[in-house]
Amino acid sequence: MADKILEFVHSSNGKAIASALGLPVPPKLKRAEASYPAKSLDGKNVLVGAAGQGKTSEALVKALDAMGASLKVSSDLAGLEGIKESAAKAKVEVGISQSDNGIPESAYVLDVTGVNTVSGLRLLYDFFNPRLKNVPSNSRIVVIGRPRGESKSTEEEAAQSALPGFVRSLAKESGKNGTTANLLQVKAGAENGIEGALRFFLSPNSAFVTGQVLPVVGAPKGVKVAEFAEKPLRGKIAVVTGAARGIGAAIAEVLAREGATVIGVDLPQDESTLGATMSGIGGVAFPLNICDPSAGKKLAAVAKDKGGKIDIIVHNAGITRDKMLRNMKSHLWDMVLDVNLGSIVRCNEQLLEDGLAENARIVCISSIGGIAGNVGQTNYAATKSAVIGYVDAMSKELAAKGIAINAIAPGFIETQMTAAIPVVTREVARRLSSLSQGGLPVDIAEAVTFMASPLSVGVNGATLRVCGQNLVGA
Ligand code: NAI
Repeated sequence: MADKILEFVHSSNGKAIASALGLPVPPKLKRAEASYPAKSLDGKNVLVGAAGQGKTSEALVKALDAMGASLKVSSDLAGLEGIKESAAKAKVEVGISQSDNGIPESAYVLDVTGVNTVSGLRLLYDFFNPRLKNVPSNSRIVVIGRPRGESKSTEEEAAQSALPGFVRSLAKESGKNGTTANLLQVKAGAENGIEGALRFFLSPNSAFVTGQVLPVVGAPKGVKVAEFAEKPLRGKIAVVTGAARGIGAAIAEVLAREGATVIGVDLPQDESTLGATMSGIGGVAFPLNICDPSAGKKLAAVAKDKGGKIDIIVHNAGITRDKMLRNMKSHLWDMVLDVNLGSIVRCNEQLLEDGLAENARIVCISSIGGIAGNVGQTNYAATKSAVIGYVDAMSKELAAKGIAINAIAPGFIETQMTAAIPVVTREVARRLSSLSQGGLPVDIAEAVTFMASPLSVGVNGATLRVCGQNLVGA
């Protein structure tokens, strides 16, 4: 489903007309065109700062250097104090920003894990304020703080709790030109998860993720944090449910792009569409109703046929059967609950018995509807909300087994499902976001691939919204 307004305002005539009429112009988002390169920030200037010398700033400097970035500090040196020693230790050069002379940075990363007082929050102002008038389109802003409950004093807790509000507001102020702003809450001891997370959040792969807070809590037991390798999913077997079309097909494509062998699952009546999608990516089509009571066992068997156990399972299949609760027939309640939730719980139970590879990664698809609720969607929203609690609860159990489980909550995504929404409601849903447009299936696929890959090694039990900071459920 195309966004005609977005296409129009970016056509040569459309631009002039929109500007003459003073119409808002949704930004053209720059998305990834190929798999993750090792030097993803090669030739790019990144403005960097930190509140205090420590493990986070060391990990930050090393990560940016590994990605090929040129590290810069502003001429008034805001945040230099915290990274000076880390840069010297890592033998990484830090230059003075030339942005006032027309060479702006395209990424801005500030580590404020060391902020433990209200006055320390001044660094947020000093670091960003001089820069924000000249941020190039599609830039990336990442702030690094600590998760709740990690502080040594109540003032520190208050200072760290300022960060979600700050970042969400900055995302709203910066979205007009496609710039994103996100907060990584890195637990002390989980610093080795910073590089992977930055590879996603500083890349075009996260074009539709903004205004989000993602905790980085540490790798599951026994998982080694390896150096980045191109095609990080090479040799992995990935199962994607609901893979014939829409978001599931895009997830299958992006997982395959990063090297995975994909087993695509969809309803037997969609076998030919599924076959076409899978043959396009060298994947395996496996027609199966995921509500089959032994679906998990059947998936384990098909993976065994392909030579191994399942490294990645993406529970994407989902349905809506919308009706006001007072008019909803019980079979519509039961059907939505079973496809969107019951099947996931059953399937994982069976796979955990003997179907998942060592250090497997599980990704579930939730929805912002599960966060905000929707008229006519009590059944759907209940399942999508349940998924958020389920991944949180399961992560605690699975971390000890070396397995991670996370969820992605899509916002308004341009698919057949959203094309069916009445035009006015659709237009409102699209524009009420910081990026003033709907996302594409590939945006969900990129976030799922991040959660399915070693890039998210420190992330477990989280739900990441991919919604362009939609106001729904904000
Ligand atoms: P879609 O309807 O285009 O695709 C869903 C796929 O799942 C279909 O191919 C369908 O045949 C398959 N499926 C349904 N029941 C199945 C079953 N019992 N066994 C096997 N396969 C089954 O939907 P779309 O838009 O691609 O959504 C994918 C996921 O993203 C769903 O979980 C949906 O709830 C979620 N989502 C979508 C949003 C959007 O804006 N499109 C927003 C929020 C969440």
